[in-house]
Amino acid sequence: MNGVKISAVGHYAPAAILTNEDLEKVLDTSDEWITTRTGMKRRHIAAQDEATSDLCIAAAQNALSKTTLASSDIDCYIVATSTPDYAFPATACIVAARLGATDKPAFDIEIACSGFIYGLTLASGLIRAGVYSRVMLIGAETLSKIVDRSDRSTAILFGDGAGAVVLEVSAENSFLSSELGSDGRRPEMLCLLGGGSRRPFTAESLEAGEQYLRMEGREIFKFAVTKMIDSTGVALRKAHLQKSDVDWLIPHQANKRIIDAAAKYLEMPEDKVIVNIQEYGNTSAASIPIALSEAVESGKIKPGNVIVFVGFGGGLSWGAVTWRWA
Ligand code: ACO
Repeated sequence: MNGVKISAVGHYAPAAILTNEDLEKVLDTSDEWITTRTGMKRRHIAAQDEATSDLCIAAAQNALSKTTLASSDIDCYIVATSTPDYAFPATACIVAARLGATDKPAFDIEIACSGFIYGLTLASGLIRAGVYSRVMLIGAETLSKIVDRSDRSTAILFGDGAGAVVLEVSAENSFLSSELGSDGRRPEMLCLLGGGSRRPFTAESLEAGEQYLRMEGREIFKFAVTKMIDSTGVALRKAHLQKSDVDWLIPHQANKRIIDAAAKYLEMPEDKVIVNIQEYGNTSAASIPIALSEAVESGKIKPGNVIVFVGFGGGLSWGAVTWRWA
């Protein structure tokens, strides 16, 4: 089987910033509540005419600028998102074409905040099996477009952004293991109720707010902590690694308290956990690749380091990948 490595990373976040103080002015909330309950301070918000594909393109260009590759050198484009430009066609097709690659396979995966973990597993598998030599995997969201700005329980949580990685066939192998899971018994725990084939939009459904993300926060919190710990444990066992072998934990950035619980289980000191939730809020499928891109840019991650990527989200879904940085 071939080896696979991440050869470049990039990210992009829209210029406009929404701070806790901005939220205090329009909602019955406070900087103190948001900071202590979530760890969030700011989020980046897409402009009205900025769609998910626009964020993807900026992140992909940022990744490609760190290589000698052209967009046509990438064999396959994958976008992980729950906020695509359209229900169809796939956002990845739009991204590949606008990057200048008009004849390459391109498709989306929609598994909410677990999108990057699922995508990393899928893209690594395609390369390891010899199907493709280079894959561009992008996690991107414009969650601000599906958040009810008047609902304090969700409006404070979400932001927009994109992170991109170029995966390439390699003599060394970075992909060590993956543990993925889902439980779709209660999809409405975290969902966008309207607009799909179950509940197409009507005047009444729009009036009822079915165009907005809804979430049972307390239930998701408990599920998230359990699944992050469990999936990390299984992924480590599959890779024959001990907790002490892990150099970096790069978790989905949904809540600082959830991240702290996972880090405690892994016995990871704070300085080995990549956290940027204060700057971006929860950017769903984009949060892990943005955090990775910033960590690589800052020089924290060194060749040979063992990384655990771990996330969870709508579905419900979850997953962890162990990775040795090349
Ligand atoms: N400001 C002030 N008070 C608030 C706010 C707010 N923004 N939001 C809720 N409250 C109030 C509630 O009304 C409640 O008041 P009450 O006690 O009088 O009823 C109180 O604060 C406590 O509410 P909880 O929901 O219990 O607060 P909790 O500590 O659980 O924090 C939070 C809420 C931050 C949403 C937390 O539950 C959480 O992070 N859950 C997980 C979210 C998550 O990870 N989602 C993943 C989504 S990713 C995806 O797939 C798109």
